[in-house]
Amino acid sequence: MRLPFRGKEPAGSGLAREAVNMTNVAPENDRGLAGQTIFVSGAGAGIGRAVAEALGAAGANLALFDIDTAAMEAVAGPLLGQGLRVSCHTGDVTSAADVHTAIEQAVQLHARLDGAVNNAGIVGASADVLDYPADVFRRVLDVNVLGVLHGMQAQLGVMKRQGRGAIVNIASAAAIIGWAGHSAYVASKHAVVGLTKTAALEYAAQGIRINAVCPAFIYTDLTAGLFQTPGVHDAAVANHPIGRLGQPHEVAEAVMWLLSDRSSFAVGSSLVVDGASTID
Ligand SMILES: NC(=O)c1ccc[n+]([C@@H]2O[C@H](COP(=O)([O-])OP(=O)(O)OC[C@H]3O[C@@H](n4cnc5c(N)ncnc54)[C@H](O)[C@@H]3O)[C@@H](O)[C@H]2O)c1
Repeated sequence: MRLPFRGKEPAGSGLAREAVNMTNVAPENDRGLAGQTIFVSGAGAGIGRAVAEALGAAGANLALFDIDTAAMEAVAGPLLGQGLRVSCHTGDVTSAADVHTAIEQAVQLHARLDGAVNNAGIVGASADVLDYPADVFRRVLDVNVLGVLHGMQAQLGVMKRQGRGAIVNIASAAAIIGWAGHSAYVASKHAVVGLTKTAALEYAAQGIRINAVCPAFIYTDLTAGLFQTPGVHDAAVANHPIGRLGQPHEVAEAVMWLLSDRSSFAVGSSLVVDGASTID
């Protein structure tokens, strides 16, 4: 193949550079997500919002899902202003019907579903196991585990027909280590990783890659609630050897990579984004 180059290059060097560009390295900012349609649950705030905004900046079209319509529409507004196709779907991830309806509507509107981020989640109560209220425990598992299951069940049907797709489930550092006082959350996030690994095995051969991301403490509404208790914020920072907590956009970067073909060999992984907080 004749390699294009402009100007006069020293013999060999230009050719070598062009050869690299033309074989297997994508341009720096091109993750190949432009024009793709990605579903994001819990898109109205925090990590889901950051993921939606990062995807929008990469030129992806979006199907947003949240229980809070106003918050979701506030995220959608600026994205629509960028000329992207963005749909908003109000619902609760604990309702299989809500999630299936949203995915059906999204596919009708966008004609495809290239990727999905099952992100909606709650932290639940703060209590030791002995006193943990069973109804709250059940709600945490419903949102964090059944929510992910409902998402994947709706998304996999479409992706199987397409013969391709990428799903990213948002787990947590609490999927790797314990967290005293938060048994429901820890149990739910361990379950998300198990669910991700199992689904990844089941659909890897069908062109669908399923992975999880495990963030440690990130500044969002979820942690703002926890940090109202005196001492909790500083204790959290002390548990992160990097010396600070994370920002939502730092999780979004990991999600973008797992959605893109740049992570083509990552299947069933749990990508830790945690400022070293889970290292023993
Ligand atoms: N913030 C952190 O430190 C942190 C760390 C690790 C993992 N996570 C996980 O990241 C995900 C997002 O967390 P966040 O910190 O951005 O939370 P957040 O509270 O800032 O935002 C969560 C969003 O999900 C929506 N939501 C909540 N319950 C829902 C439901 N039943 N159905 C539909 N939408 C629902 C909310 O309306 C909100 O817009 C969660 O799964 C959480 O467990 C967060």
